[in-house]
Amino acid sequence: MAARLNLREVTLHFGGVKVLEDVSFDVEPGVILGLVGPNGAGKTSLFNCISGHYRPTAGSITIDGTEVVGLAPSRLARLGLARTFQHPALHLDATVLDNVVLGGHTRLPGGPVSWSLRLPHTVRAEREIRAEALALLDRVRLRHAAELPADELSHGLHKGIELCRALLSKPALLLLDEPAAGLSHAEVEQLIATVRRIREEEDVTVVVVEHHMGLISALTDRVVVLDHGRKLMEGTAAQAQSDPRVIEAYLGKDAADDVA
Ligand SMILES: Nc1ncnc2c1ncn2[C@@H]1O[C@H](COP(=O)(O)OP(=O)(O)OP(=O)(O)O)[C@@H](O)[C@H]1O
Ligand SMILES: [Mg+2]
Repeated sequence: MAARLNLREVTLHFGGVKVLEDVSFDVEPGVILGLVGPNGAGKTSLFNCISGHYRPTAGSITIDGTEVVGLAPSRLARLGLARTFQHPALHLDATVLDNVVLGGHTRLPGGPVSWSLRLPHTVRAEREIRAEALALLDRVRLRHAAELPADELSHGLHKGIELCRALLSKPALLLLDEPAAGLSHAEVEQLIATVRRIREEEDVTVVVVEHHMGLISALTDRVVVLDHGRKLMEGTAAQAQSDPRVIEAYLGKDAADDVA
């Protein structure tokens, strides 16, 4: 089931550094929301607050009505949250397939003890998860690389591996941090097609951080624009791109005046 995400006045300070200030927005189940804004606006920090890697100084974050502030990333994973990172966090000496399979551990029955005993139901579940991992790699055209060490693949392909790992957990809420960064034009087109297919085939809510406005326009239902830790506006991608406040945040006041 796709998740509902609600943020209320999320604030994050590191000492005197105000990273996020009173950020509030809602994401309805099944929506693809774009989170955009200039470098340093606080987009990754906001993802870190949602995924439990940072604890906000103040404010509330709920997933399907459950308060998640203070929960550890592993608890959040079991609540159906999956994410990719701006800088892919892969085990480079492990194979591509093993990196993807890691995403399935939240779906294994039992716990570490029964996994190490290799009980029949664990072995069966593992086999199913490996088959699903291969199918996901096929979807992003990486099936042929499944048995290669991850470090033999390019940065762009690492992003694909991370996406498969996140999908393997069958998330209800998927956070993608700059999935198109470093990708070639053709790879971005393929990524757009992949995310569209995810939306059609999986029951999932997606929040995507991206500087690539073509991808944001092609994929998102709505966008939230952050600037200096504050929500600047919320609307469609087209509204954001023609909003003088957004143009000023990206390009400076002169550019905004030229448009107005
Ligand atoms: N752990 C931390 N300690 C101190 N400051 C931090 C920490 N994490 C983030 N920041 C600061 O928060 C601000 C926002 O950073 P963040 O990485 O969230 O921006 P961003 O919008 O993701 O930028 P980009 O588009 O470049 O990825 C920056 O000024 C950054 O230095
Ligand atoms: Mg970032």
